[in-house]
Amino acid sequence: MHRIPTLILAFLMFALFAVQADAAKARHHPKRQPREHAVQTTVVTAVEVAQEGSLRSAWVQYGPGGALEARAVVEGGACPAIFVDLHDLAMERRASADAKFPTLCTAVLPAGTKQAAIVFPLNRVPPPRADAGEAAWDSWGKEEFGLSRPGPKSSGFEWLEWSNALRAKARFDIIPLALPTPDPQRILVLGDTGCRIKGKALQDCSDPEKWPFPQIAAEAAKLKPDLVIHVGDYLYRENACPAGFAGCAGTPFGDNWPTWDADFFAPAAPLLATAPWVFVRGNHEDCDRAGPGWLRLLGPLPVDASCAAHLAPYSVPLDAMNLVVMDNADAPETSITPDMVPVYRQEFASLATAKAPTWLLLHRPVWAAISGPLGIPIGGNQTLIESIGTSGIPSPVALMLAGHIHTFEAINYANHVPAQIVAGFSGDALDSTPSDLKGTVFQGHSGVTVKDGLSLPGFGFLLMTKAADGWQIDVYDVHGRIERQCQFASGRVDCPNSH
Ligand SMILES: [Fe+2]
Repeated sequence: MHRIPTLILAFLMFALFAVQADAAKARHHPKRQPREHAVQTTVVTAVEVAQEGSLRSAWVQYGPGGALEARAVVEGGACPAIFVDLHDLAMERRASADAKFPTLCTAVLPAGTKQAAIVFPLNRVPPPRADAGEAAWDSWGKEEFGLSRPGPKSSGFEWLEWSNALRAKARFDIIPLALPTPDPQRILVLGDTGCRIKGKALQDCSDPEKWPFPQIAAEAAKLKPDLVIHVGDYLYRENACPAGFAGCAGTPFGDNWPTWDADFFAPAAPLLATAPWVFVRGNHEDCDRAGPGWLRLLGPLPVDASCAAHLAPYSVPLDAMNLVVMDNADAPETSITPDMVPVYRQEFASLATAKAPTWLLLHRPVWAAISGPLGIPIGGNQTLIESIGTSGIPSPVALMLAGHIHTFEAINYANHVPAQIVAGFSGDALDSTPSDLKGTVFQGHSGVTVKDGLSLPGFGFLLMTKAADGWQIDVYDVHGRIERQCQFASGRVDCPNSH
């Protein structure tokens, strides 16, 4: 951890304001291109190629209780400084580098933080404090550039020139972080984003028509949402790309940083720079697949050596609604996991005391649909339905947001169950679903039936915008065009035919 010299903070402030809008674009990789607008100050932004010790990714996420956390993946062992509202704070190490992952750093952002940026020295040897004195600057100049200070007979101007020249060589990259608005009005929802490489199920990861997540993230970032919700399933590159399939040749695979970077962090970079995120755990992040990587990189709890198969739900209280994030990665659809039934039963029952209105975020929907035989919609998660029994979902829950089924669905139920949106259509190969979901046959004995519901074909994402009487839900396609407009109001989701 390098403390940022006090004098430099003033320059950082100026540079931060100056590059705020532009800087996020190019910040992801050390092999980045020079930015278009360098800032003329002793602090120069990333026009230099970063040294080893580079920043790989940085983002802000909500955790239990709505705590805000900045995270950064860095090469090398040292965590960078983070500059929070004029204060120079330390990022702590969340996880040390190992054979699969680089160092992961974290910092809790105090409530009400107005500005935050990660500050990364770009010099090979980090510069000393501005007020460190001549000897420290002299030794830094020698070590970093082979420069010596003027001799004893040099003039005062020569000393000044040397001193200024050396300080001008102290370079920092400044990566502004996306901070929340207390009352998010524009909420971006996406899910199931990775490129499938498993056995014979192969997506062409290099073709935006086949795997559009990079394009979706770029288009979504242009909408400048206040908050992003990922409803789970990030990493789909499980096996080596088979010989003869050019579409994924050379791609990394498995639960490691290169794969996480390829499947999520690199394409998500513009959107990670735009708003804080809420990350739901998907079944691809169970402990047999990418669970350890998810728990480490995106999980809400401190990292430990074991892989927790199930995490307790937590709340993210916001002004307009309370989010409850549920982990149901280990709740299979077509069989019942008896050990988990009492756990989920208690978790669903505990929603009775949640603050209304609550939006329940869970990867696997309880009651949603795919195409069954003869095109009849079928669905339902047996483990979750067994857990809920005939109790329904407690009334503080106004909306359920899920993924898992690779399509967009909007469902109203005939029973006292909140409306359901499925948004698992943001990258992985799509599922076949009937457009009309009325009459869906669910497993189990919950008694829940679909009053009306629909699914839409194609990849995309959602933008939910606060309206006078609820929320407008714009369903976007991969080109950033609105293909359908829905409303969530009075407990219903409706998607009229035209807009
Ligand atoms: Fe999925």
